[in-house]
Amino acid sequence: MNGNLDVLKDTGIEVRNGTIKRYIKRNEVIPEGEKVFNFPDYILLPGFIQTHVHLCQTLFRGLAEDLPLLDWLSKRIFPYENNHNRKSLEISAKIGLCELQKTGTTAIMDMGTMRHQEVIFEEMIKSGMRGFAGKCMIDTNGLYPSFCEPYEDSLKTSIEFAKAYHNSNNGRIKYAFAPRFVLSCSEKLLKETYSALSDFEGSLFHSHSSENKQEVEEVRRITGKENIEYFNSIGVLGERTVFAHCIHLNDNEIELIRSKKAKIAHCPSSNLKLGSGVADIPGYLNKGINVSLGADGAPCNNNLSCLNEMRLASLIQKPKYGSAAMSAQEVIKMATINAAEALGIANETGSIEPGKKADLLLMDLNGINNPLNDVDIYSSIVYSADVTNIKEVMIEGEWVISNGESVIYNEQELVSEGKEELKKLIERKNTR
Ligand code: GUN
Ligand code: FE
Repeated sequence: MNGNLDVLKDTGIEVRNGTIKRYIKRNEVIPEGEKVFNFPDYILLPGFIQTHVHLCQTLFRGLAEDLPLLDWLSKRIFPYENNHNRKSLEISAKIGLCELQKTGTTAIMDMGTMRHQEVIFEEMIKSGMRGFAGKCMIDTNGLYPSFCEPYEDSLKTSIEFAKAYHNSNNGRIKYAFAPRFVLSCSEKLLKETYSALSDFEGSLFHSHSSENKQEVEEVRRITGKENIEYFNSIGVLGERTVFAHCIHLNDNEIELIRSKKAKIAHCPSSNLKLGSGVADIPGYLNKGINVSLGADGAPCNNNLSCLNEMRLASLIQKPKYGSAAMSAQEVIKMATINAAEALGIANETGSIEPGKKADLLLMDLNGINNPLNDVDIYSSIVYSADVTNIKEVMIEGEWVISNGESVIYNEQELVSEGKEELKKLIERKNTR
């Protein structure tokens, strides 16, 4: 599958120093001494890219069920995040990264954690994952007041992390400033954070917007404006801004996002599970807005596979727009090249093209759950495939998943350590 989504049969690629050099044909004679990996019946596609995840929340999967957003945050997620220490964060990030890689994701943008953000960066580096992360910024919190820090500390620490980690691991890691959302950030913090982008070329501004009706009402009460109109009025809407969700927007807000070239990270599982709503993605795409995908955090999904996000992104629009809406190809683009463009890294990843990094995924679509023909490989990937079909995953020329198993992690160890750390974290409850 090349950059135009053409399916090239009997074709492979040459990878050198983590970079795709050229396409090769099946019968090509390979010089002796070269390492050859032969997967004759697999489909080679670019790794998936998720533009909105929360690694720090993986440990809380299954602990915040059947709640709408603001209760989900105030009763469960903020208290849990507030109780993280370095050890619990480390295992939460590892489990999340392992699941993401196992399900074919090779790059992410992460919302980070208010404390100990260095742990997220270090774990991303150790896992080989490509992507953006940033310390989660919260300087006002009416939902859970103790989970909050002074404006100066939030900004200063964020800038220190950007200095330390932006372009680290040979450019594989980049910084995304992460003010959580309007209800947990002062205007001063949002504005100053946006200004800081100019000191870090290629960095991004990553936040949540317009996810839930109650949230939007609260934003209106506090700011007198709709969420995106507010962001625009304080000057933080631009090409380097990525907002998760964007469900409840008026026509003017949609036009603002389009004209300012801001990006939308669509999280269909999360939007359904929290009962937030269905974002009008076909409408946004029609206007030329860049839309990519994210699993969001494990406790609002409840898993991190991009395959689920692609499948749902397609299916949820069909009742309204008809069965031809949101084709399999369209959602695969959202999970690959659109996402790379949203993050400003389409020159190095998001498609299989000579000169780009070898961020690759090999799927075996010959399972019991797959079609018995190869008429439409894209529909097989989006509508039929699951994790069992994902066999090999490579990031910048290094295998991270081999024969469906993590090369980096011992999964059994992660699970038992995760259970132990979660137990301790819950016992620490209310200690702050
Ligand atoms: N809005 C602010 N924080 C969050 C979060 O952690 N998850 C979701 N889904 N929405 C948010
Ligand atoms: Fe989120």
